[in-house]
Amino acid sequence: MTVYRISQIKNKAPFSFQSLQASRFFSQLQPKCSFGIAFDIDGVVLRGRFPIGGSSRALTRLYDDSGSLKVPFLFLTNGGGIPESRRALELSELLGVNILPSQVVQGHSPFKNLLKRFENELIVATGKGEPALVMSEYGFKKVLSLDEYASYFENIDPVSQYKTWTTEQVSTRSCHSVPGYIVSSERVKAAFVISDPVDWGRDIQVLCDILRSGGLPGRINGHQPPLYFAADDLEYQAAFPSERLGMGAFRIALESIFNRIHHSPLEYVTFGKPNPFVFKNAETILSQFMPSCLATKGDTGSYPFKTLYMIGDNPMVDIKGARQAGHPWFSILTRTGVFKGADNHPEFPADLVVDTVEEAVDYILKREFYS
Ligand code: G3P
Ligand code: MG
Repeated sequence: MTVYRISQIKNKAPFSFQSLQASRFFSQLQPKCSFGIAFDIDGVVLRGRFPIGGSSRALTRLYDDSGSLKVPFLFLTNGGGIPESRRALELSELLGVNILPSQVVQGHSPFKNLLKRFENELIVATGKGEPALVMSEYGFKKVLSLDEYASYFENIDPVSQYKTWTTEQVSTRSCHSVPGYIVSSERVKAAFVISDPVDWGRDIQVLCDILRSGGLPGRINGHQPPLYFAADDLEYQAAFPSERLGMGAFRIALESIFNRIHHSPLEYVTFGKPNPFVFKNAETILSQFMPSCLATKGDTGSYPFKTLYMIGDNPMVDIKGARQAGHPWFSILTRTGVFKGADNHPEFPADLVVDTVEEAVDYILKREFYS
C-alpha cells in the first residue's frame, strides 16, 4: 500500500483555485467529479465547538462562488445527541458554509431503520443532548429519555438527592410529560444509547434494572430487551487536550457490571464507524449529491464513484472503517485529534497522513483535478 506524505505533495507546482474563473472552473471540473468526501467531525473539523485545522477554509473550497456544492461531501460522525437538522444548522454556523441535514450522518442515524420494529413500543433513549427528541424525529412514538423514565420510579437512583444539577430538570419535566400510558407498569421493549451518557452511575443502574428484569425495573429476572449503541468509540477528541472517554468506555462499564450481577451476559448491537454498512450508506447518500450526468448506477448496480475519501482522526474507527469498506474508499488520517503521534498507525495504517483537514482537502483537489 502506498503511503503519501503531504511533504511530497507540497513539492508539486503550487496552484490557486481562487485564481481561476469560477464559471470556467465549475464547467471544467464537473464532468470529472467522480469522487466524494466524508469528514469526521470531532478531532478533524471541530474541537469542542471550535473549528480546527483550517476546516472552514477547506470546506469553502467545495462550493462554487454562488454557494452551490461543487464536490459531494458529508459529515460522518460517531457523535450525536441532537437531530440531524439541528446539527446541520449548528455546523453551518460554526463552519460558515451551508450544510444540509442530509449531509449529516451521526452515530444514531441508522436507528431510524429500526422504526418498523419499535415504532409503537415503549423504548428508552439516553445520552447527552436530547435523546428522546432524536428518536421521536425518526418516528418512534413511545420514547422516553432515561432521565424522564427514571423519574417514574421512586428511589431508583439512591444517590439522586446529591445530584443538585437534576433538581430543575425534574420539576420542569413533571409539568410537561404525561404519557397516555402507565410508564411504571409497561415493559420497555428496547434501550438506545444515543450519545455519550451524562450520568454514568444513574444510567448504568437504570439500564441494568431494565435489562435484567425484562423491561420492568424492580421485577424479577426476565428476558433482556435489545440494547443498541450508536457507536463504540473508546475515546475521542473533545476540547480537553487529551482524549475523553466515549460511548465505548461506557459500554465496557455497563457490560462489566451487568455480567457480574446477571446470570447471562449482556447482549447488544453497536452502530457507527467502523461498521462497513456506515460507509455503504455514506456512499449512497453521497451519490445523491453527484452532478446529475454522473448520478446513475453502473452495470453492476454500484454508484460510479472512483474514489471516496474518509478524513478522520481515529485509526481504530475512521481508518479501520474505510479500509474494511474497501474500494472506492481512500483513508486520510489527520494529526489534529485522537492520533497525534507517529507517522501512521501500525495496525490500521491510512493511505495518507496529514497534519490538518485543510491539507487533506488540498491533496484531494490536486489529485482529482490536476493529476
Ligand atoms: O462523541 C463523539 C465521538 O464519539 C466521536 O465523534 O466525529 O470523531 O466521529 P467523531
Ligand atoms: Mg474523530
